[in-house]
Amino acid sequence: MAIPWRHCWRWTTGATSTSLLETICCFNGSYATSLLRGTGTVAGSGNEGLSSRTVHTTSLGNSILTRHKSRLLYPTPKPCGCKRIHSDAKLKDPFTLAQKDLNNLYDDIKKELFVSKSELKSLCDYYFDGKGKAFRPMIVVLMARACNSHSNRDGDLLPGQRSIAMISEMIHTASLVHDDVIDGSDKRRGKTTINEVWGERKAILAGDFILSAASMALARIGNNTVVSVLSQVMEDLVRGEFMQLGSKENEKERFKHYLDKTFKKTASLIANSCKAVSILVNSDPEVHEIAFQYGRNVGIAFQLVDDVLDYTACASQLGKPSATDLKLGLATGPVLFACQQFPELHGMIMRRFSSSGDVARAWQYVQESEGVDQTNYLAQHYCQEAIRQISLLRPSLERDALIRLTQMVLTRDK
Ligand SMILES: *[C@@H]1O[C@H](CO)[C@@H](O)[C@H](O)[C@H]1NC(C)=O
Ligand SMILES: *[C@@H]1O[C@H](CO)[C@@H](O)[C@H](O)[C@H]1NC(C)=O
Repeated sequence: MAIPWRHCWRWTTGATSTSLLETICCFNGSYATSLLRGTGTVAGSGNEGLSSRTVHTTSLGNSILTRHKSRLLYPTPKPCGCKRIHSDAKLKDPFTLAQKDLNNLYDDIKKELFVSKSELKSLCDYYFDGKGKAFRPMIVVLMARACNSHSNRDGDLLPGQRSIAMISEMIHTASLVHDDVIDGSDKRRGKTTINEVWGERKAILAGDFILSAASMALARIGNNTVVSVLSQVMEDLVRGEFMQLGSKENEKERFKHYLDKTFKKTASLIANSCKAVSILVNSDPEVHEIAFQYGRNVGIAFQLVDDVLDYTACASQLGKPSATDLKLGLATGPVLFACQQFPELHGMIMRRFSSSGDVARAWQYVQESEGVDQTNYLAQHYCQEAIRQISLLRPSLERDALIRLTQMVLTRDK
């Protein structure tokens, strides 16, 4: 069978500078090792959707360059037409496949948030309007079914697994409500934010209320391991937010700091929710680790692409203004890579783009650099690792949907 998603990528010959290679090799030793392992099956084995590729190389830099120049080139951030006409079309897209388990998800969340008709209720229900993408619950239910199949368990999701999908969306939404307060944002998904409509104090309380409702639903699942796995997410969210308030002087530390922050703020929720649903059906720690690593890698790739979109998508696509990161003083992937080509950015990063003209200049440097392509390229590597992990589970429709989902992560444009 063909490998549809690879045909969809525009192949560019963007040069990978030595410094990028160094960064990729250094920011995470263990990641780099798996990435650059001399002989490795990249796309996984026993997997009908994707043929395995074996890369023979002798040295680290060589391997990444060979692959880079041959066939693993950047996906563009824009989806391309061939995806729709390809034979792959009869395979259900991940959202469709997950749909039966996600029916009434938002209604169930609103039941969890039950408070008698009051202002608090309007605040809490505000983002559960069914217009969210339910991206996290989708991954969670697909992972649950993939793990269930792997464990020879047919039929419906376990009630606890379905609850975890719901809880993941609640934790995510609560964190958005709090983030908007921290960032002073006035728009989210094309809506005026809660802090803008009701004020910051009520927004903080609403976020807390959603979290407490999520905690009660979590306790009701009745499994201590699951409680502790998902409690880790709440800790990570706070630590990640704190990390975002600081910056590092040293360039390599800065990249590591950025990726750690990205794990904590975005990927931990996906990774630990995936782990939690696997715990409920399978007692093998290796399966828990596969679920966790898939979520971790997809989560980091998702955020890297998000950080790129802040530079490349227009405001109407995003449902919020673009270039917000720079305005907030945040140096994300594109600008960190750009800094390797334009060291002038270093000072601006350190002062969090606070001098007048910094934002516009940094923006310009990023446009002139390869920062966007390099960040996309890095996201692509995280997706490959996610595919490698999930391919260790037995084949199932849902497992293969999780593989295809990595491509959606890379090509989404909003
Ligand atoms: C959680 O659930 C799994 C699967 O049913 C079980 O093996 C494990 O012992 C439970 N752990 C706790 C602490 O209840
Ligand atoms: C580096 O890799 C290890 C092992 O896979 C992982 O636990 C850690 O979170 C990774 N760090 C980053 C920043 O990705």
